[in-house]
Amino acid sequence: MKLGVFDSGYGGLTILKNIRAALPHYDYIYLGDNARAPYGPRSFDVIYQYTLQAVRALFEKDCQLVILACNTASAKALRTIQQCDLPRIAPERRVLGVIRPTVEAVPQLTKTAHIGILATQGTVSSRSYQLELKNIAPDISVTALPCPMWVPLVEYGATETPGADYFVSERIETLLAKDPLIDTIVLGCTHYPLLLPTIKRHVPKNIKVIEQGTLVATSLANYLQRHVEQADKLSQEGTCNYFTTEQPENFATAAVNFIGAEQPQAFQIELG
Ligand code: DGL
Repeated sequence: MKLGVFDSGYGGLTILKNIRAALPHYDYIYLGDNARAPYGPRSFDVIYQYTLQAVRALFEKDCQLVILACNTASAKALRTIQQCDLPRIAPERRVLGVIRPTVEAVPQLTKTAHIGILATQGTVSSRSYQLELKNIAPDISVTALPCPMWVPLVEYGATETPGADYFVSERIETLLAKDPLIDTIVLGCTHYPLLLPTIKRHVPKNIKVIEQGTLVATSLANYLQRHVEQADKLSQEGTCNYFTTEQPENFATAAVNFIGAEQPQAFQIELG
């Protein structure tokens, strides 16, 4: 059995890269729903249906555990899938998200107890970060801001353009104007680390910018240590296969930017 990693598009590759660095011996399947990305502006129902289709497809490809390496899917679909679908379709398998592992790290990072979350419209409107954080650190003040142009910039490979500078600086300024006490900005979308050089140019040096990759990888490693019954089912040949709902050649070419390794072979898959 394998570990499945799902994202609406390329963003989850930033998570996969960190997970594979921490747990290189397992076998992975990555699925990007590039044909239907971005998910960010879509409704709850659509995101839930698309995510469930992807989880089912990964189960059919023998994934024991699926990571929703997409904040929007984690925010809008994870709970329903865990509570309503899994008991019915695959009670022995597991689906995990990326928001909880990120939120758990936040209290150690902020000194002012004021943080900013940059994410998609879907994640921001779900208030998932605020709700999770309220349980573990109710005193932290959270300002969340959607960045609707950032995912298209990443999906279209336009991260180092004057347009990217414009849209990044505008969002950072708006966030810091809303709460000047923010000392930590969480990139609550797996696509955003690809804009990191641009983001860092516009964020004051005293403010930390947090990526999720290592947080999610560490949390998964802990999970597998605590859940030996899941870990024992995983094969360990160190392989990784890539599936996309778009053209596999385009995926393979673009994916190089995200995983920083040689061009992977990708296969097309239909969801639905
Ligand atoms: N990468 C996804 C996230 O972490 C969503 C991007 C999108 O499809 O809008 O939220």
